[in-house]
Amino acid sequence: MIFFLAREQNNMFNLRINGIFLIACSTLLCAISLATTVDYDANAIIINGERRLIMSGAIHYPRSTPQMWPDLLKKAKDGGLDAIETYVFWDLHEPVRRQYDFSEDLDFIKFLKNVQEAGLYAVLRIGPYVCAEWNYGGFPMWLHNLPGIQLRTDNAVFKEEMKIFTTKIVTMCKEAGLFAPQGGPIILAQIENEYGDVISSYGEAGNAYINWCAQMAVSQNVGIPWIMCKQSNAPSPIINTCNGYYCDDFKPNNPKSPKMFTENWIGWFQKWGEKRPHRTAEDSAFSVARFFQNGGVLQNYYMYHGGTNFGRTAGGPYIMTAYDYDAPLDEYGNLNQPKWGHLKKLHAAIKLGEKVLTINATITEKQYGDSVYLKTYANQATGEKFCFLSNAHNSKDAQVDLQQDGKYYVPAWSVSILQDCNKEVFNTAKVEAQTNVYVKKLATELGNTFTWTWTSEPVEDTLQGVGTFNASELLEQKAVTVGASDYLWYMTTVLINDTSTWKNSSLQVNTTGHVLHAYVNGQYIGTQWGTHDKLSFIYEKPISLKQGANIISLLSGTVGHAHYGAFFDMATTGIVGGPVKLIASSNTTTLDLSKSSWSYKVGLNGEAKKFYDPKFSSNGVQWNQVNNVGTGKPMTWYKTSFKTPEGTDPVVLDLIGLTKGEAWINGKSIGRYWPTMVADNNSCSDKCDYRGNYGADKCLSGCGEPSQRFYHVPRSFLNNDTNTNSNTLILFEEMGGNPINVCVKTITIGSICATVGYGKTLEIKCPDGKTFSQIAFASYGNPQGKCGSFQVGVWESSDSASVIENACIGKQSCSVNVTSSTFKINNQGGNDGQLAVQLLCDGSDPEIGRVQKVKNHEKLSLNESGPESEL
Ligand SMILES: *[C@@H]1O[C@H](CO)[C@@H](O)[C@H](O)[C@H]1NC(C)=O
Ligand SMILES: *[C@@H]1O[C@H](CO)[C@@H](O)[C@H](O)[C@H]1NC(C)=O
Ligand SMILES: *[C@@H]1O[C@H](CO)[C@@H](O)[C@H](O)[C@H]1NC(C)=O
Ligand SMILES: *[C@@H]1O[C@H](CO)[C@@H](O)[C@H](O)[C@H]1NC(C)=O
Ligand SMILES: *[C@@H]1O[C@H](CO)[C@@H](O)[C@H](O)[C@H]1NC(C)=O
Ligand SMILES: *[C@@H]1O[C@H](CO)[C@@H](O)[C@H](O)[C@H]1NC(C)=O
Ligand SMILES: *[C@@H]1O[C@H](CO)[C@@H](O)[C@H](O)[C@H]1NC(C)=O
Ligand SMILES: *[C@@H]1O[C@H](CO)[C@@H](O)[C@H](O)[C@H]1NC(C)=O
Ligand SMILES: *[C@@H]1O[C@H](CO)[C@@H](O)[C@H](O)[C@H]1NC(C)=O
Repeated sequence: MIFFLAREQNNMFNLRINGIFLIACSTLLCAISLATTVDYDANAIIINGERRLIMSGAIHYPRSTPQMWPDLLKKAKDGGLDAIETYVFWDLHEPVRRQYDFSEDLDFIKFLKNVQEAGLYAVLRIGPYVCAEWNYGGFPMWLHNLPGIQLRTDNAVFKEEMKIFTTKIVTMCKEAGLFAPQGGPIILAQIENEYGDVISSYGEAGNAYINWCAQMAVSQNVGIPWIMCKQSNAPSPIINTCNGYYCDDFKPNNPKSPKMFTENWIGWFQKWGEKRPHRTAEDSAFSVARFFQNGGVLQNYYMYHGGTNFGRTAGGPYIMTAYDYDAPLDEYGNLNQPKWGHLKKLHAAIKLGEKVLTINATITEKQYGDSVYLKTYANQATGEKFCFLSNAHNSKDAQVDLQQDGKYYVPAWSVSILQDCNKEVFNTAKVEAQTNVYVKKLATELGNTFTWTWTSEPVEDTLQGVGTFNASELLEQKAVTVGASDYLWYMTTVLINDTSTWKNSSLQVNTTGHVLHAYVNGQYIGTQWGTHDKLSFIYEKPISLKQGANIISLLSGTVGHAHYGAFFDMATTGIVGGPVKLIASSNTTTLDLSKSSWSYKVGLNGEAKKFYDPKFSSNGVQWNQVNNVGTGKPMTWYKTSFKTPEGTDPVVLDLIGLTKGEAWINGKSIGRYWPTMVADNNSCSDKCDYRGNYGADKCLSGCGEPSQRFYHVPRSFLNNDTNTNSNTLILFEEMGGNPINVCVKTITIGSICATVGYGKTLEIKCPDGKTFSQIAFASYGNPQGKCGSFQVGVWESSDSASVIENACIGKQSCSVNVTSSTFKINNQGGNDGQLAVQLLCDGSDPEIGRVQKVKNHEKLSLNESGPESEL
């Protein structure tokens, strides 16, 4: 296997990587021979003396599972990447000060070894501030309470903690031999992250801090270059890099530094209640091609695989559990086509010019007007040439005549890559890669309904105002919980002497968010929550008070802690400062309870007693049958069990009917859920024009739908036993939903589409070893529409279906040369024909063939078997 891999690799470094496994590498001699040198200049990353352009992609190890890593990395390698970038997640590794965890899913050393085994380099962004839409930006929450600390500035307490953690990570990597000079995969390391965005808010201390970061990093002696992103004053030798949607105009602060694009935002993230973003394959490729047209050396997709925010790792506030990002590999690790395939072809095309692009080439630029220009890289010594012909106009297509080098049609907002400056090998707007349509298929073998049991969250203590400590003020939530739970109880007792004034009153709570549940004298009064764009709110509700002691119990919930912005770490959550008031019905008398004696309790009793973990659920929990109440009741735990779906397709839970809460499979949290957070109906459109600058508000879908209805259950969370109900699903349902419609689905390939122009070759493949079973559409002529809604145009070859049938049916992959002879069309000079196909893969539901008759926006709807992913 290793030998086979080694033969497949086409560069020396990979041979050496695999060499580690071939040679028992215990001698010093061996270690030296495996060393990889990493150097750079303005035109190249120089690895072992070889001048390279680097294609990289971000895969964050805790957003998938160790069982998924090898497959994700193989797909990244197949997609033409040279390197994988990841952050290191401090909060997960040091959840309690000086208590470290690098086990299982947190084994980042194993991840980096997997990267190397896949024949890839690594870019290690230690941070340790990572932003990343991650809880508290990756900082452990105990940092917040250290005496005298100020985060991300010239503060001795913070710097000491940052240095200890950074040194720990570097030391672990060194001990595992993971830096390139040791023969490992890591070629670049990053310290801090996007500090340039906020540095001005920290005054002079900001500059002092960034200088300290640089010096501290360099003193780690890792033998590879350090980078800082978005840091225009990065102290030498740290290399400043660019993050954004486009970085073609970026210039590093040091002219000797290579131009690097550390985050090409290939899509965007979602908050609860937001629509689904989509960045087209065309515009993604345009951004990458423009970057290399203008002197780029390293480009990293943020994200290549986004994955899932398991547990309570999502930041925010309000970052959703799915972190798909519209990345080339989708949340489950499937190819997001045509994006993955289009970028793969782009990488191959750019690499054709690697030699001349990485030397100090003679560069000439020729303008053709209307934002069209040709950039030529030439090696004067050898005569070798490579060209990028770009059209950055956002609506006008161009016909460019390069005389003896040919005539080129360059659509608006596209780049043509011209090998030897006279042969178009790629155009960013001409997508030939196949589209994969995945469907969510009910795992029918599991039966359609589950048998549920339930138990109420025990609130006897908190509804009586009994907590674990008291304070005569309203405290800030994160300072109290230190991230141990999303929940904090605030409880007080008020003595009423005069019921004529107070019997009918209102309870008013001013909270900084994110969710509030109110109880008075043990009675549930109501719930309110903020939204992603307005977190704080004032809750007001009529209540009835009695003579004597009245108990007010408020449960405040958070939905991820802030991860971005100057002083984001100081953003408050919970009912901090209040005020909490009673307003008499007369509306003239108020009673401010903010300075009363408040009793506190961190977390839920069910959390403390591990109701979510079947191993502990026998600890005195009474699970009742659903029909004796349960459903619709807030603060309820639900439990069921189910069989593992057969096969290897990714598994999701459809949580429709539930409100907000958290879900656990066999004791492992698959994240917060909130399917009642529905996106508004504005600004979705069937049409998505790839032309013009991309922004996260472009090409949105999912209007009027839950922002997340389906929740990824990694196969490794499930038991292997497909015969018995061996898996336990436990839900904490916060606002009173009904689990009756909850079901398990698998993500299955539905169909494959492709559109290929005359003179090109159709190349399509079923994923996961499946074979083509049926043709849903095939037309060579001038077919109209797009995948799922193709239609025959004014003319077509009557042989279309038979050609495709002969070439593809029963095969895993097939290729067809799109020529008039293949399709027996006698169209002299008529080379404007196009082939459009849609085929089903074996094992996919024949019903799905009907997608061709379904309009695109219906295809996006949430009906049971219809495809949901717009591709
Ligand atoms: C690149 O070439 C130009 C002229 O062709 C020269 O001025 C410049 O110094 C060279 N740069 C490097 C880094 O060799
Ligand atoms: C909090 O205050 C209440 C009422 O004054 C008292 O009964 C209770 O014991 C106190 N709790 C703690 C943990 O000190
Ligand atoms: C009721 O009387 C007690 C004792 O005098 C006092 O502490 C409390 O504030 C009074 N309650 C209200 C609502 O006025
Ligand atoms: C409280 O409200 C109820 C119903 O609105 C009304 O019947 C009652 O008279 C009110 N009591 C006082 C003390 O205002
Ligand atoms: C008191 O008056 C304000 C302003 O008129 C109103 O918004 C609020 O609902 C009233 N509250 C009660 C308890 O009547
Ligand atoms: C609510 O609290 C915020 C601070 O968190 C404050 O700015 C605002 O004025 C308060 N609103 C009321 C009505 O008390
Ligand atoms: C979106 O529009 C549909 C149909 O008009 C309507 O039923 C639904 O309530 C709307 N949803 C939202 C979130 O506005
Ligand atoms: C399931 O099977 C795989 C491969 O046979 C094995 O590696 C894994 O440990 C098994 N998992 C469980 C939970 O038994
Ligand atoms: C397509 O054309 C190429 C070269 O013209 C040829 O090598 C290849 O065999 C053809 N493929 C098929 C499937 O006919």
